[in-house]
Amino acid sequence: MRYGPVLLLGSLVTAQEVGGKLPENTWGDPDCFGYGSLTFESCCLPQPRFECFEGTFTAERCCGLPEKPLGVPEVITRLREELFTNQDVYSILGTVCGQYQPQLRYPDSHLTPALMKSVLSFVPEPRMWLEVGSFIGSSAITAATTLKSLRLSTGVVCVDPFTGMVDMWADRKAFREAFGLTQRRHVADGPLLMDEFGHSRIYEMFLANVRYSGHEDYILPLRVSSITGLRLLRTLFEQGRIDHPPEIIYLDSAHEAGETLLEVTEAWRLLAVPGVLFGDDWSWPGVQSDVLRFAQDLQQRHLTDEELHRFDWPTSSAIQPVPGLAVVDQDDGAWMLFKES
Ligand SMILES: C[S@@+](CC[C@H](N)C(=O)[O-])C[C@H]1O[C@@H](n2cnc3c(N)ncnc32)[C@H](O)[C@@H]1O
Repeated sequence: MRYGPVLLLGSLVTAQEVGGKLPENTWGDPDCFGYGSLTFESCCLPQPRFECFEGTFTAERCCGLPEKPLGVPEVITRLREELFTNQDVYSILGTVCGQYQPQLRYPDSHLTPALMKSVLSFVPEPRMWLEVGSFIGSSAITAATTLKSLRLSTGVVCVDPFTGMVDMWADRKAFREAFGLTQRRHVADGPLLMDEFGHSRIYEMFLANVRYSGHEDYILPLRVSSITGLRLLRTLFEQGRIDHPPEIIYLDSAHEAGETLLEVTEAWRLLAVPGVLFGDDWSWPGVQSDVLRFAQDLQQRHLTDEELHRFDWPTSSAIQPVPGLAVVDQDDGAWMLFKES
């Protein structure tokens, strides 16, 4: 919301477009109101006053008007064209090779709308949300659902070879034995989702889950390793084939020592200014040691208490182990770095 009367030049709806007066019994979103004169009555009645609205505080959301369709985010359109020459990666799902039932249960996905909103408080209107390490799509689906609910036109790009992590391979045999799985059924035995031909079908499950969740318009998978994906996006940006680098990068990939250091280094290079680089699984030794080392070398300024505590979780407060690095020690932990220059 705006704090004073300012002329808006954006592309918000006009009262004419929404039919003049508001429908009866419309209340809008209470999160929009509360700054003195910014009340539902003063901003929405008898018809929306457009000087009240800005960014994600749209007239549609705040006054409870029918939303305009969001459409496909610009970066998704561009990447589909630049990388896939407009081939629809989800189209395999309609073929005999793509008969995968969605499986959405993945307890280790730790990205929540609350965590996303903390990140978005630093970069309110990102155009690209890059996730490195997406597995079967749980966190990407959370990202797209949350971005859409905030009416943000932010493409979610998912870089992952979709071939699993060390433990998924190392533990597969024991997992089968523990669950008494003797037959090789279609993608039915453990996180690798290996089929009867010995192929992991994580990628196909990702596609099926995204389609089932209705986010094919916002989520684009890039089936390459982290370093290839990060360098590829930087190349596309430098060649002017995408207009901007990602403003937010969420790293949740191999978690291996040494590899994580390479990933954060490349991710930081690619990240827009302002931008947030954050990741999951602080409790993993490889993640913790590499992120700490990287953050120490960066020599960032100290985050203020106000900035740091935007990342407090309901049962634990954020800490700052080295200047500029915020860590929340819950659900395996999350870490964050902010790029200001
Ligand atoms: C913990 S899972 C990601 C979970 C997902 N972010 C979620 O919360 O729903 C880790 C993923 O990292 C991927 N991965 C492993 N090595 C990678 C690499 N070098 N580059 C990118 N992704 C990698 C694996 O294929 C796996 O899908």
